[in-house]
Amino acid sequence: MKYFLDSAKLDEIKYAYENWGIDGVTSNPKHVKRSGKPFYTVIKEFAEEFDALNFPISVEIDPHLTEAKDMIAQAKEIAALSPNFVIKIPCNEQGLIATKKLTEEGIKVNVTLVFSTSQGIQVGRIGARYCSPFIGWQEACGVDCSLFLSDLVAIYKNYGFETEIIVAALRNGKQIAEAATVGADIVTCGFDVYKESFEHPFTDKGLQIFQASWDDTEKGSLL
Ligand code: E4P
Repeated sequence: MKYFLDSAKLDEIKYAYENWGIDGVTSNPKHVKRSGKPFYTVIKEFAEEFDALNFPISVEIDPHLTEAKDMIAQAKEIAALSPNFVIKIPCNEQGLIATKKLTEEGIKVNVTLVFSTSQGIQVGRIGARYCSPFIGWQEACGVDCSLFLSDLVAIYKNYGFETEIIVAALRNGKQIAEAATVGADIVTCGFDVYKESFEHPFTDKGLQIFQASWDDTEKGSLL
């Protein structure tokens, strides 16, 4: 399973690429706002830093756009800035019309804000590059998304859809592991979610035990 970083902060992306081997980036208007930089500054930096690598970076269009033709026009403008850019388009009827046309023209689309299998089926049918089911938002409201996720993965397998599933808006390591268990292609998480997922309190406790033994042991000499 590939790991994408959900962020628009260049320092986080560079750190996660160099140290954790992340496979790509997803961003959204919330992340761009948190970066504290203007939208076009952020995406030009993405292009400058990563153009030389085969490194997919999802960039979301203006969420106010409601007509497919306007979504297509902005998607083309953004896609022209870098071969790595994947355009994030919302999963509604106009967004799916735009996705179909852009996909036919060879522009990579990540359909975002997917909350049901019926939405996900259409994303796969029209051959979008990625489909992003959001998990954390629903689970925060007490909805268990495991069936939604396993159904979506099974449906894509049944019909040989080439669209890759990016399980998005994850909040903890348990959700990452669930995505892997059902066979999702990719997860996308924030910097801190990944960092915490690499740790465990028993690892820390084990280290304390081993450190105490290490300190009480005669070391001898290599020579
Ligand atoms: C995914 O592509 C989205 O950018 C992301 O997961 C949105 O959710 P969040 O910012 O609430 O985590």
